[in-house]
Amino acid sequence: MKLFLDTAEFDEIKQGVDWGVVDGVTTNPTLIAKAGQDHETQVKKICGIVKGPVSGEVTATDFAGMIQQGHDIAKIDQHMIVKVPLTREGIKACKALSGEGIRVNVTLCFSPAQALLAAKAGASFISPFVGRLDDVATNGMELVREIVEIYDNYDFRTEVLVASCRHPMHVVEAARMGADIATCPPAVIDMLFNHPLTSIGLEKFLKDWEKSQAVKA
Ligand code: E4P
Repeated sequence: MKLFLDTAEFDEIKQGVDWGVVDGVTTNPTLIAKAGQDHETQVKKICGIVKGPVSGEVTATDFAGMIQQGHDIAKIDQHMIVKVPLTREGIKACKALSGEGIRVNVTLCFSPAQALLAAKAGASFISPFVGRLDDVATNGMELVREIVEIYDNYDFRTEVLVASCRHPMHVVEAARMGADIATCPPAVIDMLFNHPLTSIGLEKFLKDWEKSQAVKA
């Protein structure tokens, strides 16, 4: 299973890469706006840090605009993935861009029917937003289970990229369901490390070691 970071902040990405557990990055217009640089500069630098798939999202909503922006994004770096929204125009753009060999991540997926359309249009990635579904009292992880089942039934090659992860259990459940990727805010990746018994155990080992060294001395 791959872990992506859902951020456009360089320091956070460097930290995840240093830990050796981050395989890629997802951005969206909100994250790029927060980072404060222009889109191209920001994502190019991110590609240089992570050296894995980096999603950059189109902001056009019509087919021609998405194709134009998709070409521009794909040209930035070999690692760039073009992110398009799950709309009629987005699915049409996904089909066209994928046909040219450009990898597409279809975002804002909230139903298994939408995920089926993305796979049929040749998407490389589908992004179900689990946290935002939980926010409206709908089980986000149930959507992931349905998508994995549908894709397995037909051997679709579209990778299931679990997005809008809010806590470690989203990641663990995604892994148990066989999702290909979870993209998480840095704080969630950080929380994956934590277990009180690890901290208590390490403290005891170090204290016992110190005691034994004092006896020797
Ligand atoms: C994924 O590609 C999106 O950028 C992201 O996961 C959205 O998460 P949010 O619902 O926490 O904004």
